[in-house]
Amino acid sequence: MTFRHFSDPITLHPSFSLPSRAILSPLEGIMNRDFFFDAACSLGLLDSWMPPFLGVSRGAVPATGKLKKRFAHFLDSALPLTVQLLGNDADSLAETAHRLAECGVRSVNLNFACPSGTVVRSGSGGALLRDVRHTAEIAAVLCSRVPQLCVSVKLRSGFSCAEETGELIRRLCGAGVSWILFHFRTVSENYAFVGRDEAFRRIGVAVQAAGAVPVFGNGDIRTPEDAGRMRDASGCAGVAVGRGFLKNPFLLREIRGACPDEDARRLFLEALFRRAASGPGRRKHDFYLECVRMACGADSAEFQEALRRK
Ligand SMILES: Cc1cc2nc3c(=O)[nH]c(=O)nc-3n(C[C@H](O)[C@H](O)[C@H](O)COP(=O)(O)O)c2cc1C
Repeated sequence: MTFRHFSDPITLHPSFSLPSRAILSPLEGIMNRDFFFDAACSLGLLDSWMPPFLGVSRGAVPATGKLKKRFAHFLDSALPLTVQLLGNDADSLAETAHRLAECGVRSVNLNFACPSGTVVRSGSGGALLRDVRHTAEIAAVLCSRVPQLCVSVKLRSGFSCAEETGELIRRLCGAGVSWILFHFRTVSENYAFVGRDEAFRRIGVAVQAAGAVPVFGNGDIRTPEDAGRMRDASGCAGVAVGRGFLKNPFLLREIRGACPDEDARRLFLEALFRRAASGPGRRKHDFYLECVRMACGADSAEFQEALRRK
């Protein structure tokens, strides 16, 4: 049944709930920066965490101490935390999840979505959608070895064809995953344009195939109205916002029903622009410049100004 308010909480596992149905989709290179973490906490930009993926290679399981250090500030913030794992070796992923549980983590997410060439060539992320059986096996191993954890997956609609969605989702639900974060594009489509009706249709197919397993829709949400339309058209249980958060860091709050706060938004973006204009190291500078491009668009006066000052 479609929920009424994005501010409604949702229980995803006996040990894990989210306070609302509007979450930040993981953004590698962004939420792991102090600037965004501090802003997110001080301005209440979000009410749960799913930081960018932790890569886990075969036989290279991170030590518990290292995991504790990496996620301490998220755990200390007291907001529910989901740790996303990226890898293709079920045993190493399960052992990492086990160690995360020892650190106090209650929820892990398996990345079966990343379209980056490097990740796909390594056989992880979106590459796993080429072999649905193997993908479901990895999920099943995690669900059975760490039943105390809420195990979810981040998916695209298929590797090269969105018609793969139904089979993929049925197998993953059969493996026991607790919920699904679903980006409507295929891996091959990367970030290519997909019309809104087709996007919602794909999410609707995922929702139908998942049955009682909650699906959070993801992709191209820029406004609270976009989130409402996605929910109404697809029946998804919640939404995840990625790039739209950079354009409007208050978007999740607004989706949850808070009034737009133009002053706070301006202050946040100004702080970001200052970083873009005066980042101490070249790599850092380029990173903030990229943020301004994503937040305001390549044609925007803000981006052109940041470029000029480079
Ligand atoms: C800079 C950047 C970094 C990303 N990092 C991750 C990641 O670590 N894990 C992941 O599952 N998705 C990652 N994504 C994908 C987003 O979470 C999201 O699924 C995708 O951008 C579509 O949603 P959007 O249209 O709201 O941005 C990343 C996307 C961007 C633009």
